[in-house]
Amino acid sequence: MNGGLPATESRNLQVPQGEFELQRNPRDGRLQAWDAADEFLLNHLHDLQPLSRHCRLLILNDTFGALAVALAEYQVYSWNDSYLAQQALRSNLEANGYPATQVKTNSGIELPKVSVDCVLIKVPKTLALLEHQLYALRPLLHHDSRIFGAGMARNIHNSTLELFESIIGPTTTTRAMRKSRLILVERDQALSDGRSPYPDSYELEVDRRYRIVNHASLFSRDRLDRGSKLLIEHMPIDPRFRRIVDLGCGNGVIGIVAASLNPAANLLFRDESYMAIASAETNFRAAFATTRSAVFEVDDCLQGVADGSQDLVLINPPFHQQHSVGDAIAWRMIKDARRALTRGGELRLVGNRHLAYHAKIKKLFGNCETIASNKKFVVLRASKNPIGADSRQARKALV
Ligand SMILES: C[S@@+](CC[C@H](N)C(=O)[O-])C[C@H]1O[C@@H](n2cnc3c(N)ncnc32)[C@H](O)[C@@H]1O
Repeated sequence: MNGGLPATESRNLQVPQGEFELQRNPRDGRLQAWDAADEFLLNHLHDLQPLSRHCRLLILNDTFGALAVALAEYQVYSWNDSYLAQQALRSNLEANGYPATQVKTNSGIELPKVSVDCVLIKVPKTLALLEHQLYALRPLLHHDSRIFGAGMARNIHNSTLELFESIIGPTTTTRAMRKSRLILVERDQALSDGRSPYPDSYELEVDRRYRIVNHASLFSRDRLDRGSKLLIEHMPIDPRFRRIVDLGCGNGVIGIVAASLNPAANLLFRDESYMAIASAETNFRAAFATTRSAVFEVDDCLQGVADGSQDLVLINPPFHQQHSVGDAIAWRMIKDARRALTRGGELRLVGNRHLAYHAKIKKLFGNCETIASNKKFVVLRASKNPIGADSRQARKALV
């Protein structure tokens, strides 16, 4: 399933603003890099003509940069919690003749601090993220700012509209067009600027010394995920594991427990979400202050991590990228883990039983053992074989 980003024969988006060549990130020539909501919004903006030449335009959650590329002639600011989305925006700008810096991107967890004339919001998957963004957005609006939301109709609920209404002001929707909808919002001057309730926190039930802080976009923001819990309960304790990776770390719970049980280990936390890495760093520092060494990086899987450099990789893989679901990212994480592991190094992964990671890992590593399971999850372990011991099947799977 690709969550409304349809299969395509063309990579070109055709809208009144022009024709644009767009690619997804990671690249997937079979799927479009925009959805019907992007097209609806761009057509609507053109019909309405609300943008003056010097208009300051803020775009939130632009999936692969379709909106920002089509509107790049204006002064565009783009805010996105996803590193992959930001990279897609840069390469799509370049593919369409603009410098990658044409659109100002915010790489932090905050919205840019500029007064904006027009705001376009692709409705994110996580309601808490929308809530946080609307609170952060409100002080940037002036009397005449125009605000438009857009999304696939099935992702726009009453709760979505209530957030716009209560934080920004009167909200209506258009009729659905090709299963997408626009949200039209007016700034209510009488409403005061509220405060985002995020980040929030919970006490870690498996080790009550730790209080886990979560920024708005985080996976399992209000309690420890049951899959993560099972992995934590089967965390290896082994002095050989000196370099441990928490891949797709979210708030960092898995890596923090690994660090506490393996006191000589150095940790690497990786996630493609800026809010995840900010949360993981806050949580790790609260747990260990500066007594432990750890690196926190926003990046794609283990890109740039040297081959054969890590002893243990821990993964609770994602099953969606924004609104799209599937195991493509999990598969890339597993392949990257194998590459980055030392010979004799170990992968430990928790996943939903029905996702059948076992067969894939076995194919790639030549071995895979189930070390724990319950009704919903399995914890799998695989070792990277000593030199020369890879099966022919494993070598083929790596290509
Ligand atoms: C299922 S969550 C697990 C979070 C955390 N490890 C836990 O157990 O609570 C998967 C995480 O993978 C991250 N992720 C998704 N795609 C990624 C990518 N290409 N590279 C790195 N991290 C990614 C998501 O942002 C998310 O935080």
